Amino acid sequence: MAVVITIDGPSGAGKGTICQLVARKLGYHLLDSGALYRLTALAAQNQSVDFSDEVALAAVAASLDVVFKPAESGVKVVLAGEDVSRAIRQEVVGMNASKVAVCQKVRDALLQRQRDFQQSPGLVADGRDMGTTVFPDAEVKVFLTASAEERAQRRVLQLEQSGQAADYDQILLDIEARDKQDTERTSSPLK
Ligand code: C5P
Repeated sequence: MAVVITIDGPSGAGKGTICQLVARKLGYHLLDSGALYRLTALAAQNQSVDFSDEVALAAVAASLDVVFKPAESGVKVVLAGEDVSRAIRQEVVGMNASKVAVCQKVRDALLQRQRDFQQSPGLVADGRDMGTTVFPDAEVKVFLTASAEERAQRRVLQLEQSGQAADYDQILLDIEARDKQDTERTSSPLK
């Protein structure tokens, strides 16, 4: 089996940037598992699926028509023919992703899709449960974190640099809410 390096941690810790750099340097494949939860949330939003309907959410996750295309800026994410690379990065989609990620049926529906990324010569996997649930036998497991305040500050800078308004206090509250949801859920919590 191809080598796997997992990098887990809370949102905004810098996992995405580091995973991209490591994957590029080693010539490995890259799995952004958070994107799959974000895509499920976005597709559910678009199809007006009730977020408390676990069966419907799992059906959305199982039928995601997504393609990850290598691009100069990283990876282009195409959902049902539409470039959603920017849309899935919105704060509201991140919060909704955290809501759908609580659902075990959604996690089950996405499990094999994530494991399919394990291809030669190797994989760098970014997420919350890469080392614990998806790739428990990974050769290298990293837990990357930073304080909530530092992560909120980075997010503010990121938003401002892309010309969007950013409210530090609100972003800090959102990060703390997402941390709580991701660490306290029963299905594959962040640990
Ligand atoms: O990493 P990112 O912020 O894109 O992830 C969005 C949300 O998806 C997280 O807050 C988390 O709830 C969920 N997620 C997860 N398991 C993963 C990756 C992401 O539950 N492996």
